Amino acid sequence: MGKFAQRRIVRKLDLELFLSKVNPQPSPKAQLEQYTLSEQTAANILHLAAYTNGDIIGRSVLDLGCGTGRLALGAAYLGAKEVVGVDVDKLAVKTAYANGKQTGFSAVVQWVLGDIGAMNGCFDTVLQNPPFGVQRRGADRAFVMKAIEVGEAVYSLHNHPKFDPRLIKQLKASNGFLQVQPEPFLESFVEKHGGTIKAVYAMLMVIPRMFAFHSQQRHEFVVDLYVIKKH
Ligand SMILES: C[S@@+](CC[C@H](N)C(=O)[O-])C[C@H]1O[C@@H](n2cnc3c(N)ncnc32)[C@H](O)[C@@H]1O
Repeated sequence: MGKFAQRRIVRKLDLELFLSKVNPQPSPKAQLEQYTLSEQTAANILHLAAYTNGDIIGRSVLDLGCGTGRLALGAAYLGAKEVVGVDVDKLAVKTAYANGKQTGFSAVVQWVLGDIGAMNGCFDTVLQNPPFGVQRRGADRAFVMKAIEVGEAVYSLHNHPKFDPRLIKQLKASNGFLQVQPEPFLESFVEKHGGTIKAVYAMLMVIPRMFAFHSQQRHEFVVDLYVIKKH
C-alpha cells in the first residue's frame, strides 16, 4: 500500500475535497474531448469501486485517458497498491505529474505519455472516462476493448443514450447515482470483447463552458458508469 493509503473509510465529501486539489486541463482540446471529470462524479465512481466492490484498496489500478489524473490520484488516495495513468496529450500528462507531486502521491502513481493502444500488462482494475465519441464517432470503443484486455474489473463512463429530464430529477434527489439498464449496443460490444456487464449506474455530470461551440455557461447531463468484469 502507498505511504498515505487510507486505513479508514473515506467520506465522499473528503474525497471530493481531495479531488478538487487535482488541477484540471489548463487548455483543453476539443478534438480529444478533454473534459475534466467533476470532483462529485469522480468521487461517486471511486467510492463505488472502492467500498461497494472492493476494487481499489490494495489493487493495481490503470487510468486510461487519465487527463490530469483525477481518477488515478483518487485511487491512490483511497489506498490502491500501484497506479498507472496514461494519456496521449503531453500537457495533460505534465499536469498530472505536477498534480501527483503536489498531492504527495508521486511514489504510488506512474504517468505514461502515449496512446492507450500501446498499453499492455495486467491490472486488477481499470478506471476510464474516455472520449464519448462526440468529436470522433466510436472513440470510446477502443477504450472499452483495451480496458477488458488489460483489466479484470473495468469502470467505464459513457454518455447516457437519451435526454431524460425525469432521470435528472431523480438523480438530484438521490445520493448521487441510480442503477439503470445497459445500452443494448454497448452490452453486446462488451460481451463480444470478453466482458460481462455487472451493473450500470447513471450519474449527473456538470461541466463549465469550455469550448466556443458550447452554448450554455454550465452543461448538466447524465453519464452512465458501466461496471464490467472480464469473462
Ligand atoms: C474525457 S477526457 C478524461 C480525462 C480524465 N480521465 C478525467 O476524467 O478528468 C478523455 C482523455 O482521454 C485522452 N485520450 C483521448 N484519446 C486517447 C488515446 N487514444 N490514448 C490515450 N489518451 C487518449 C484525452 O487526451 C483526454 O485527456
